[in-house]
Amino acid sequence: MSMPDAAQKPEAGVATPPVHVAIIMDGNGRWAAARGLPRREGHRRGVEALRNVVKAAGELGVRYLTIYSFSAENWSRPADEIEDLMGLLKRFVRNDLADLHKNDVRVRIIGERANLKPDIHALLSEAEELTKNNSGQTLVVAFNYGAQQEIAQAAKKLAEEVASGKLAAAEIDAAKLAAHLHTKDIPDPDLIIRTSGEQRLSNFLLWQAAYAEFVFVPTHWPDFDKAALQAAIDEFHKRERRFGGLDAKARA
Ligand code: FPP
Repeated sequence: MSMPDAAQKPEAGVATPPVHVAIIMDGNGRWAAARGLPRREGHRRGVEALRNVVKAAGELGVRYLTIYSFSAENWSRPADEIEDLMGLLKRFVRNDLADLHKNDVRVRIIGERANLKPDIHALLSEAEELTKNNSGQTLVVAFNYGAQQEIAQAAKKLAEEVASGKLAAAEIDAAKLAAHLHTKDIPDPDLIIRTSGEQRLSNFLLWQAAYAEFVFVPTHWPDFDKAALQAAIDEFHKRERRFGGLDAKARA
């Protein structure tokens, strides 16, 4: 993990936006059910919300936005729903990549890519490759992502380094493990938002969330917009982050 390069100087009296916001986009199905629509329609509207929120995050000065678009556990959904989600991802990359690139957005993918279908694999690589030198906002797409799997593969890599004599077991610490996570060059999230009322992490960024603030909102993902993002950031600013230390009053 490294700290972001170009943190903007806040205007006087204006709170610095969180550097990294991560979002669990939940509630597409419930949004659709509430309207008597198929789940597919909820996911389609979810992609529209995503498009707007990426733009809004950029406008609000958020430098890293991570979205949980497909979890390692989502494969257990019915085959036709998985097909729909894959189709939406393909369309999202095909339709939006040029615009993201034009807007200087760098796309990064986290998650396990080895077993993905070749067309999905190729599209994700294309998105990363095309935008890799962009220096504006970074959009991190968590796809086929599971935090426990990510931590386990990092532990495996460390074990291999120890077995080959490259590393002594006594040298293993948090930084060494973090250097093998998919997010190794991405700052940890400051704020994690989950929509649709559930209050859990569901195997998302377990390691990286160590000091994140959590904001849970009842809004279903398709209804989440710039105002909702701003409200979550306002809530973040009300929190006092101590990173395990003491607050100013207790230190005095
Ligand atoms: C949760 O809704 C949403 C997801 C399964 C992932 C988010 C997916 C999108 C926004 C659309 C796809 C976008 C890309 C880029 C792949 P849910 O189905 O769990 O809702 P529910 O809990 O109400 O059933």
